[in-house]
Order: sequence, then structure tokens, then C-alpha cells
Amino acid sequence: NDDQFKKVISHAKEYGYVFQSSEIYDGLSAVYDYAQNGVELKKNIRDYWWKAMVQLNDNIVGLDAAIFMHPTTWKASGHVDAFSDPLIDNKDSKKRYRADVLVEDYCAKIETKIDKEVAKAAKRFGEAFNKEEFLATNGRVLGYQEKIDTILKRLGKSLENEDLADVKALIEELEIACPLSGSRNWTDVKQFNLMFGTKLGASAETAMDLYLRPETAQGIFVNFLNVQKTGRMKIPFGIAQTGKAFRNEIVARQFIFRMREFEQMEMQFFIKPGTQKEWFDYWKETRLKWHKSLGLGEDNYRFHDHEKLAHYADAATDIEFKFPFGFKELEGIHSRTDFDLKQHEEYSGKKLQYFDHEDNASYTPYVLETSIGLDRMFLAVFSNSLMDETLEDGSERTVLKLPAVLAPIKAAILPLVRKDEALTKMAKDIVDDLKWDFNVFYDEKDAVGKRYRRQDAAGTPFCITVDGESLEDNTVTIRHRDTMEQKRVKIDQLRDIIKKEVDV
Ligand code: GAP
Repeated sequence: NDDQFKKVISHAKEYGYVFQSSEIYDGLSAVYDYAQNGVELKKNIRDYWWKAMVQLNDNIVGLDAAIFMHPTTWKASGHVDAFSDPLIDNKDSKKRYRADVLVEDYCAKIETKIDKEVAKAAKRFGEAFNKEEFLATNGRVLGYQEKIDTILKRLGKSLENEDLADVKALIEELEIACPLSGSRNWTDVKQFNLMFGTKLGASAETAMDLYLRPETAQGIFVNFLNVQKTGRMKIPFGIAQTGKAFRNEIVARQFIFRMREFEQMEMQFFIKPGTQKEWFDYWKETRLKWHKSLGLGEDNYRFHDHEKLAHYADAATDIEFKFPFGFKELEGIHSRTDFDLKQHEEYSGKKLQYFDHEDNASYTPYVLETSIGLDRMFLAVFSNSLMDETLEDGSERTVLKLPAVLAPIKAAILPLVRKDEALTKMAKDIVDDLKWDFNVFYDEKDAVGKRYRRQDAAGTPFCITVDGESLEDNTVTIRHRDTMEQKRVKIDQLRDIIKKEVDV
């Protein structure tokens, strides 16, 4: 819900996770910076993915291809011709909208309106209330109840057939049923390419037009044969990479859910033609398991199989996550056939084939792709972990229950009294020892209770407090963020206790 989401955004700022880019100049829309804690959380998510995909799979290797690629890449991949969104402008307000999102917004508005009317009527009629009957007989907007599915299907069809006039007609129809605000005066719907262009080279005549990559996948495809040959890889095998991608998104809202500069974690799995169905099922299940291993709640995931397929795919599904604003795409799993390699063969004039010793035959491999947005995963983890709790004594605390493996700081070391030099020295010694293995944090300011709350809200799984007793027997208290339980342990046990919790 809206309030919870606003809380997520302000908490991310207050605790040094995410800042708006160029904030002192009033920011840049849909571009964000990761701050001292955010950069650690992001790195830990990336490492968690890399370990599962590359380190634990003998047949998957890594790659770090450049962001700049030869411009023909994007002709071959289809991005120059087909990577666009349908846009519509409002002539009165001069505002620009993504036409498909506008239709969805109208539908959502109509649904809210219907819900309100239904609730009101139910109250009025009491037990005699019959929802179906009420909807069937009440007004133009209410008549839209069954139509919303039909509208969204029609939208899908019109986009698929590039019937942009019909998308406009749909918007005008909806506008009559449920005016959004004021009078509306629309332009035609036009396609708008999402790639950012730039130039390579110094002089105007020789400069080459380039694009910032809109996905990392193409860097893998064009290196397919280099990696296969030098790594002596046998099919089936995969190439994984993480890195920045850029899209000139028009609907830039929902914080780091949809950004103009973002990071992807992608893996292309090269397989024998004909085996794509079994690998599609395998990677669907494997990737869902990876998500569930983080303990964010089994019910917060669902698959959404695509009916409308991208130009390169013969099957596709999304893993959707329950964000504060509802279930939305977190990761895509696509069966890309041999589309990309074949296209690059055609445009480059180079063979991109694999010789299968078992079959004694060459073929262009099929590809199964898993593609997840790192920033989106960050938002999933962060928003799911943030909660307000009422404690037994009636007081409230805000706690960020990040999975320990992903938490930016694993332990905070706190001398009970700031002015006691023996205590602060002992605490700093513990920091100097543990920092070789974990990100730890030293804090001596304010009362210890306040320091605990600060670490709870920052997501730190452990607080270690050094007090008078520590000086006598080399023990400290270790407090667990989630249970708030405190235990007295020997200083030389700390490393193992923390490790047990934060290791995968
Ligand atoms: N190579 C396939 C590909 O790029 P995609 O569905 O366009 O497929 C994959 O993107 C993932 O990248 C999405 O599931 C999402 O997590 C992330 N992503 C896409 N656009 C994004 C944006 N503008 N901001 C943040 N993440 C984005």
C-alpha cells in the first residue's frame, strides 16, 4: 500500500541506502545513487546470485562485457526496430504517457470506483444486497466490471498488431466512462525507442552513433564462441554476467522499481535444439528456489506466464514478487530459441555454431535466459524486511529484518560507557579482529538502548556490547536483532556465532 511504500523510500534515505541522483540540483528522475549501506546490500545480493549461478555450477562461467557495443549489435538483436513503447501526449496538459499504462490506470480507477459503490450499496441494502444484480443494473461505470478483462485483452491485441489507432480509441472510450481529470485532448499514439544514443569519436564527421546497452544479454551472445572455445565448454553450458543497462523509460515511477540506469544479472544457457522445454522448466524451478532460499515468504512469489511473447522467444515467464504496490515482475525466464545467435550470424557474416562430438554434427545452439534486475531485487528484499513492531512492554520499534547473509553490516560493537577508556579500547580491539571477516561497525554515541534501535533500523543482525564484566572475564553480550535476545559469550566465540548466521 501507498503509506508502506512511502515509508520504504524515506527509510532507505534516512539509513543511508538509496539517495536520489544529483539531489542538490533537485534530482534526476528515475536515477538513483546507492549510499554507504545500499552499496553493501547491493553487492551482497550480486554476490549471492553469482555464487548460486557461477560458483556452484561447473558448467556456468562469468563474463564482463563492455557497455558500449558495435551499433550493428542492436540492429541484429531487434532493438533498433522493435524496442519501443507506445506513447500518447495530452495536448492540454502537455503531459506524456505510456499508452498501455494509461489504459491500465483507467481500468484501476474504474475498479476502485466500482469497489466504493459496491461497498456503499452493500451497507445500504444490508442482507438483501446482491452484487451481481447491482452491477448489472447500475450505471455506465459499473457496467465496466466484466469489461475490464476484455479491455485489457483488446489492448494486448492492438499492441501486438501495431494497431495504434485502436489504442487511442480505447483511451477515448475509457475517458468517457471514467474521466481522470479535466478535459482530455489526445495526440495519436506513437512508438518511441527506449535506447539511449551517444557518440564515439572526436570529430563530427567520423563519430559513430552508439547506444548504451539496454540489456547485458547481447554482450554474452557476441562472445558465445570466444568463451566456448577458450573455456572448452560443452553444451549445455551457461555464461553469466552482471552490469549496468540503460532504458529511456517514460513511466518512471515506483522508486528503484523502474529506473533509467539500472543493473541486470543475466545468464544465457546454451542448449541443444529441441531440449528447450525441459531447460525452461528446470530454470523456472531453480530460480524460484533461489528466491525462496532468502526466506522473504513463500507466498510472496508467483509465476506469470506470458501469452504475448517478445520477438525472440518461444516461451517466457516472469517470477513476480509482492511489492508494496502489488505483485510485479522481478525476474524473467525466456526461451530465446536460436534467434539471437542466428541474427548475429546473419549481420556479422560469421558462423556461431557448436560442434557436437556426440552427434558428430554442428548446430546453432538454442538459448534459455534468466534475467533479473539487481535494483528490483534490492527493492524486494528491502521493502519486505522493513517492519514496525509493538514490543511486550507496549513500546514500538522499527526493524529492518534483512536476511543476515545480505545485511550491509553484520555486527555493531558497542562499549557500554563512552567515557571509559578501557571499554572503548576493548571494543575497538574486537572491531579490529572481526573486520577481517565481516563488515562491522563501531558506535559509542548515546545510551545503549538507543544504539540498539539504530542498528535494528539499519538492518544489523548482531549488536555486541562491552561492559565492566568484559574487562574481568573476556565475555560480552551479543544481542540478536530479530529476537532481541541477549546472551553472554566469550569474545573468542564471536567469530563462529556470527559466521553461523551470515554464511550461506
Ligand atoms: N535480456 C532480457 C531482458 O532484458 P527484461 O524483461 O526486459 O528482459 C529483465 O528485463 C529484468 O530486468 C526485469 O525482470 C527487471 O527485473 C529488470 N528491469 C528491466 N527494466 C528495468 C528498469 N527500467 N529498471 C529496473 N529494472 C529493470
